[in-house]
Amino acid sequence: MPLGQKFDTLKFAWRFFWLPKAAVADCNSQIMRALSETLWNVASPREIARASTIEQHRSALAQNQREVEFLDFGAGARAEGYPSQDIDAGVGSKRRISEITLASKSPFWGRLLYKIVRLTGARNCVEMGTSLAISASYIASALPRDGKLITMEGAPAVADIAADTLRTLVPDREVEICVGPFQDTLGDVLEKMAPIDFVFIDGHHEQAATEGYCRQLLPHMQRRGVMVFDDIRWSPQMLLAWKNISNSIAGTCLDLGSVGIVLLA
Ligand SMILES: C[S@@+](CC[C@H](N)C(=O)[O-])C[C@H]1O[C@@H](n2cnc3c(N)ncnc32)[C@H](O)[C@@H]1O
Repeated sequence: MPLGQKFDTLKFAWRFFWLPKAAVADCNSQIMRALSETLWNVASPREIARASTIEQHRSALAQNQREVEFLDFGAGARAEGYPSQDIDAGVGSKRRISEITLASKSPFWGRLLYKIVRLTGARNCVEMGTSLAISASYIASALPRDGKLITMEGAPAVADIAADTLRTLVPDREVEICVGPFQDTLGDVLEKMAPIDFVFIDGHHEQAATEGYCRQLLPHMQRRGVMVFDDIRWSPQMLLAWKNISNSIAGTCLDLGSVGIVLLA
């Protein structure tokens, strides 16, 4: 097992074994199964084959030195010191595809997303933050034949590469990429996809935005739907967003380190 993956597994194991007993008891058994199968690396031959194809594609992207225009609507732009009014319009810069690949979830977390979608039988799925569609490929691979994923991305050039990834890796599943800032596109996506069974929020990474998207999503979520928040420890503000969400939401919240999962009541 590569070192990065061992590290992800150890950090996850630490959080998993210390999950509050009440949260574990409240949790749907399929979610607990997804967590423990990810930890112990239990996988069906189908899952192993899917993951291996996705990882081969990731390796090819990680070696691609072509530069593309990256239009950033998220906290990354703010971290680089751009003024707010510029960020609202999107901050453009040139990035190598190899560099963009680094923002994708690792194989370990990709497997967890796959398992949650597959084991809960989620049909209507939404992802906020496509990047090159690595996590989207894990989610889409786990969908039933009549399932659908809409994945949302602000940077058009990045979305073009993501479309190619999805055509190559999951031609047999219905996946749509919605291009544009979440602020402008989320309303339409929610109308199209409600009731949503599963959402993965992995973009923007600002406290107010994350809490705002959560509020906007909630009325469109399925009962017992699953919300996965990434990078909850990316910054003190993101941790605050997670704490506010987990203290106010009606459901069971699992803090797994970099990722927070909400199983709605
Ligand atoms: C961390 S990356 C997503 C990685 C992807 N989920 C994966 O694991 O393969 C976040 C993506 O969200 C996009 N993004 C961030 N803020 C956004 C916003 N406000 N509107 C639209 N896209 C945004 C960025 O352009 C970036 O490609």
